[in-house]
Amino acid sequence: MPATDSKKLDDLFHERLKDIYYAERRILKALPKMAKGAQSAELKAAFEKHRNETEGHVERLQQVFDILGKRAQGKTCQAIEGILEEGEEVLDEFKGSPALDAGLVSSAQAVEHYEITRYGTLKRWAEELGMKDAAKLLDATLREEAKTDEALTGIAESVVNQKAA
Ligand SMILES: [Fe+2]
Ligand SMILES: [Fe+2]
Repeated sequence: MPATDSKKLDDLFHERLKDIYYAERRILKALPKMAKGAQSAELKAAFEKHRNETEGHVERLQQVFDILGKRAQGKTCQAIEGILEEGEEVLDEFKGSPALDAGLVSSAQAVEHYEITRYGTLKRWAEELGMKDAAKLLDATLREEAKTDEALTGIAESVVNQKAA
């Protein structure tokens, strides 16, 4: 690969890293609200567990910034703003409704899918850029996002959908 091309991917990697760093910190603030709003104890616990994991995601991203030799810095990400706004609407509009948890799971899964696509790309780019340690860190988070998504599917099937029906 010519030097100019690898420089471009390097820049793109840094841009997307700022984007997900912003997103993770926004998610960290949103998860306690979702845990508070959730009706089922299982869903509440899942949100609380993932809030703790998300602290680790922020820390891993800080390590990736370190590897890059850059300051950890976020850049407003409109995509996550939109997804989280939708979640807040669900909290408002379905307060007290048996469908609330179904709505919260749906919003939370949209967040996880967003993270999965971003971490998948970042991990691949880190590998292409020869940043093995960064790729490992990104992969560790990617796995936790995927596990969370699976757990949410389980909760949706076992509890939420029955109640909402
Ligand atoms: Fe995350
Ligand atoms: Fe997540």
